[in-house]
Amino acid sequence: MKRRIGILTSGGDCPGLNATIRGAAKACYQQFGNDVEIVGINDGYYGLINNLCREMNQSEFSGILTAGGTIFGTKRTPFKMMQVVEEDNIDKVKMMKETYKKQKLDCLLTLGGNGTHKTANLLSSEGLNVIGLPKTIDNDIWGTSVTFGFHTAVDTATDVIDRLHSTANSHGRIILVEIMGNKAGWLALYSGVAGGADMIVLPEIPYDIDKLCAACENRNKSGKGFSILAVAEGAFDKAEAKMKKKERTRKRAEQGYTTATNRIAKQIEASTGLETRVCVPGHMLRGGSPSAYDRVLATQFGVRAAQLINEEKYGYAVAMKNDKVSENKLKDIAGITKFVPENDQMVKTAKDIGISFGD
Ligand code: F6P
Repeated sequence: MKRRIGILTSGGDCPGLNATIRGAAKACYQQFGNDVEIVGINDGYYGLINNLCREMNQSEFSGILTAGGTIFGTKRTPFKMMQVVEEDNIDKVKMMKETYKKQKLDCLLTLGGNGTHKTANLLSSEGLNVIGLPKTIDNDIWGTSVTFGFHTAVDTATDVIDRLHSTANSHGRIILVEIMGNKAGWLALYSGVAGGADMIVLPEIPYDIDKLCAACENRNKSGKGFSILAVAEGAFDKAEAKMKKKERTRKRAEQGYTTATNRIAKQIEASTGLETRVCVPGHMLRGGSPSAYDRVLATQFGVRAAQLINEEKYGYAVAMKNDKVSENKLKDIAGITKFVPENDQMVKTAKDIGISFGD
């Protein structure tokens, strides 16, 4: 039985995309030999809409294990616009189904985060054979304990925090490092613990600025002349927690801020008199070669996707559950964000060693 498999990467990139593509492709060639053809789809769902497809050679999947980014390119094509016909008059869902047909695909592997999984689920409900693979540095996909890309980003962010320690210490400063993670704070939490941050600020645990100031002052009084705060990009304070996102964004814009990090820095400096600085590593956290952990995880996930193809088990997303590579039905997990629970064990661990969350 001949199989033609489409692969795309959608949403923000992250380390491990190529390693996953490689794992899936190699396992398909192992299982199906000459009976498999792989079609690379460029630029995510945009490429599926616009038929940006290319038949791949087996050799193109070699030598990409360590490469950052994605060999197929990626784009953000927001789920909320997928079923909306815009000025260009394009019915995106219809076009994606047409490309799938035109390319004679038997199934489609979609590597991406929450938005990607939502569209994957939509395509699955439209009758396409889809398998999702969970990628994101945010680690916020429901139903899997870990996503590929997360641990590499933890390593990178930890390195940033490590480097900030010496300069913060030399100058006796408060340094706030803004860690990516707009909705969920997993990356700030894990890198904060790994890097020995003194305070961690997460969207899931709204902060009280007075508590953060007090934590800085207490460290100062105890002879520690510096403090490091790992602040998630999407963090907000207790007053903002009561607002709708739109109102919060508008109020922030009026104050001249987009994220909370600079505002926290200003407030700490004004209240404590301690000198503060802000460091935003931003997209550096998404760049570079995947860590050994992510290479292994990506390979495991890619191989599971190939097994699912063999079993003709479609409409699923690969996942890690109880340390076992497994899968969830796309419809059960698509669109559900995995937030850091307030009683999360890692939050407790951090609190148990005196890290303040400002709550
Ligand atoms: O979803 C991953 C992520 O890196 C988030 O942490 C961040 O908020 C967002 O992507 C940034 O997106 P973009 O690359 O489109 O600016």
